[in-house]
Amino acid sequence: MCGIVGYAGAAQAGPLLLEGLARLEYRGYDAAGVAVQGDAGQIAIVREAGRLENLAKKTDCGLLLDGCCGIGHTRWATHGAPDKRNAHPHASPGNRVAIVHNGIIANHRALRAELEAEGCVFLSETDTEAAVLLLDRCYARLAGKPPRARAVQALMEMAARLEGSYAICALFADQPGAVYAVRRGSPLAAGRCSGAQAGYMIASDVHALAGYAEAAVFLADGEIAVMTRDALRLYDAAGKPAARPPEPIDADAGCAKKGGYAHFMLKEMHEQPRAVRDTLAPFILRDGDLLHADLSAAGLDEAALLSVCRVLLTGCGSAFHAGLAGRAMIERLAGIPCEAELASEWPSRLPPPEGTLAVVISQSGETADSLAALRLLRAQGVRTLALVNAPHSAMAREADRVLLTRAGQEIAVATTKAYAAQMAALGLLAVRLAAAKGRLAHGREHALLRALLDLPETLKCLLGEGESMKRIAREIGDAQSVFFIGRGIDAAAAMEGALKLKEVSYIHAQAYPAGELKHGTLSLIERGTPVIAVCTQREQAERMRASMAEAASRGARCILIAGEGCAEEAEGEVIRLPGTEPLFAPLLAAVPMQQLAYYAGCARGNDVDRPRNLAKSVTVE
Ligand code: G6P
Repeated sequence: MCGIVGYAGAAQAGPLLLEGLARLEYRGYDAAGVAVQGDAGQIAIVREAGRLENLAKKTDCGLLLDGCCGIGHTRWATHGAPDKRNAHPHASPGNRVAIVHNGIIANHRALRAELEAEGCVFLSETDTEAAVLLLDRCYARLAGKPPRARAVQALMEMAARLEGSYAICALFADQPGAVYAVRRGSPLAAGRCSGAQAGYMIASDVHALAGYAEAAVFLADGEIAVMTRDALRLYDAAGKPAARPPEPIDADAGCAKKGGYAHFMLKEMHEQPRAVRDTLAPFILRDGDLLHADLSAAGLDEAALLSVCRVLLTGCGSAFHAGLAGRAMIERLAGIPCEAELASEWPSRLPPPEGTLAVVISQSGETADSLAALRLLRAQGVRTLALVNAPHSAMAREADRVLLTRAGQEIAVATTKAYAAQMAALGLLAVRLAAAKGRLAHGREHALLRALLDLPETLKCLLGEGESMKRIAREIGDAQSVFFIGRGIDAAAAMEGALKLKEVSYIHAQAYPAGELKHGTLSLIERGTPVIAVCTQREQAERMRASMAEAASRGARCILIAGEGCAEEAEGEVIRLPGTEPLFAPLLAAVPMQQLAYYAGCARGNDVDRPRNLAKSVTVE
């Protein structure tokens, strides 16, 4: 799982590849490398372990590389340690063929054994090296054919032998000025660059192309692309020429700056009000004095909503947590049975019953487990709705319907604004489903939508009050473990709080439905163990008090994040949330927990935007 980029054109490739990789670094930052081809065809490879800045230093931001054609890679290690040896590009002897790869080649062991038996020597532990050595063999066997047809045929033969998922860019030493690419499962987008960079660029996502290309062609599964300075040629899996119209891309995508904030995470936390507002605005209309929701632009008109008998929400990480909260919102408001399941667990479940609307939630729209769940559900004949933040993503293209969150590009690995936008969109979906099912009394739809539209202002106030969380973050900095508890929808909020804290601060954090604390976890509570309790639902306040008392009497240091009317008689420290419709309050509860994670991460000197071992977009299963 990684980010790849390729360029063939009039400009020096090095700096362009480095810039492209910088924009793809969210996909992995264990190692980075580039291969640049000179006019005579010779391929020079530079690789460095660690962050891209190491490669940038080594190559003087790409300026030390000579050639107008090249490929680059930023790695999230799957096979082999994150060291220089395993960094991409990988090449066949004498750098005859060099490739970069995003994905996992599932049958790499069998291929390696076969190639070793034929005398090939492997220099790395990666699955990718099997692909390049295989490609080299296929290419050698086709000697004598015209160059392009030979390379396309070799890529087809290699692809026919590979199992798993891959996006691969390749250079051939005897074909100067051409970048070849092939994909299955993992995404690739190619666009024409103009001006001084005239030529073509290809990358794992459009962020790398933005500002260089105005439009991009998204390669279909099995397709092969050939890029030279003057042309982009596509071939289908059978080697027949293919054509696809380019789609416009946003020129600002990929140019995210910290805008005066110390970290992207902090900036993105402060962008939550706008993310929520922009996500809701296209779907909430005024009808006389009343507000009403219309999701027909997302393919959910009255008839489509009326036929929904069951909702399945799925995703990974924070997106799954949003799904858990969405389950509570939809069940409570619309009275429709709902299930939330981790996308990675979906393959082991029975197909959902007829009348199910499956909502696949994902910021990137590329997460492999979520994409696999989407494909499986579609194959089972289930109607799918992609709730995604990336309009050009695979999920947006493959789902039956798309509901876009408009959080804007998110850079920090730990999601904040995209999660807030997902929560708002799910609230909107719950209200719309409830209205379609006739579950809302006169004026209730308006009141709920008003509450959603007021969230941005409320979030703004809350974001201005980070001081107590900063202090608490300092105080819990040495904790061995932090526990998060909540009931019902607040259990979902607690899970998100725990995930944020562990990914950014590396403090062990675990979330439990509060009622479960006494069934085992209490044994872990010692004097001073922090327990963060989330309570935004008044009807749960008393039982939450009891759970906190159980923990406090064993020495826990309890901190309550409380919705309106939920903190009466509470003992210990209380973080009070502003008033809102209770079902939407968990969106607000996320803010102090994000602040806790952020300040704890900073206090420990962590790279909060790029926590160790993680990547923002996990494109392997
Ligand atoms: C990674 C990120 C998480 C994110 C999850 C799902 O694990 O670190 O923050 O929630 O992927 O990503 P998605 O793009 O599908 O929302």
